[in-house]
Amino acid sequence: MPYQTLLFEIRDGIAIVTINRPDKLNALNHTVIDELGEVVDRIATDADVKAAILTGAGPKAFVAGADIGELSQCDVSTARSLSQKGSRIFRHLEQCLKPVVAAVNGFALGGGCELALSCHMRLASENAKFGQPEVKLGTCPGYGGTVRLPRLIGRGRAIELLTSGGMIDAQEAYRIGLVNRVVPQDQLLAEAEKLLRTILEQGPLAVAMCLEMVDDQEHLPLDAALALESRRFGELAGTTDFREGTGAFLGKRKAAFEGR
Ligand code: COA
Repeated sequence: MPYQTLLFEIRDGIAIVTINRPDKLNALNHTVIDELGEVVDRIATDADVKAAILTGAGPKAFVAGADIGELSQCDVSTARSLSQKGSRIFRHLEQCLKPVVAAVNGFALGGGCELALSCHMRLASENAKFGQPEVKLGTCPGYGGTVRLPRLIGRGRAIELLTSGGMIDAQEAYRIGLVNRVVPQDQLLAEAEKLLRTILEQGPLAVAMCLEMVDDQEHLPLDAALALESRRFGELAGTTDFREGTGAFLGKRKAAFEGR
């Protein structure tokens, strides 16, 4: 299916989604948001897709935020609807049971930083820059920035980024845990793919369970989360993959998982 603002390809099970408005630093206009909604559904449901990478076109930007031209036209009602729509899509991405990596290849500002935060993992190129500059425009993040940023990097650091509108570079993003690692730009996609290939070699049901559990534990009390983990640990012991994984270790051979 062709998209107007996204490039989409599946490379041996890994979907590579490129936000493709480089002349506008890949800013999120209505079309990008709608198409991201379609692509997230596709990643979640297409059996040919086992994992995904999100990145931006060109050497300069991952996504430089919401399209400010469109944003400037919003009133109370349309701004709220836009935020609700984007938030639903980003939440769906975050809850996807297939691993998703943001390959942040430049500016990740506003909605771009929020999009990266909604992916399971973030790799950054050396020129990447992160920030939530919405306050400079007299608004606040609308796609989860005030919610996910403090959860990932802590309240104090998040409040500084959110309220100052300032940017941090890739090394600082790494230092505070906003990205998993920093790599040269020409190796970014290869590193993201390598990480996902490693994950795809593991038991797929177990990987999905980890993704689901990490999300579920965020909104459960400690004891309920631990109880849920025990239930899921039990469920996995009933799978063919568990027999295969443990048998392969004991038999000193590589496991051949079937995802059942
Ligand atoms: N929305 C719409 N257009 C955007 C955009 C955005 N968020 N970010 C960049 N662009 C456009 C610019 O208007 C410019 O378009 P033009 O060539 O038609 O004038 C083009 O992308 C290139 O951007 P430019 O500002 O010339 O690049 P730069 O290297 O000088 O600066 C940034 C890069 C990222 C610092 C700067 O573009 C910027 O501050 N963007 C807005 C970031 C932001 O506030 N995002 C949050 C929105 S809620």
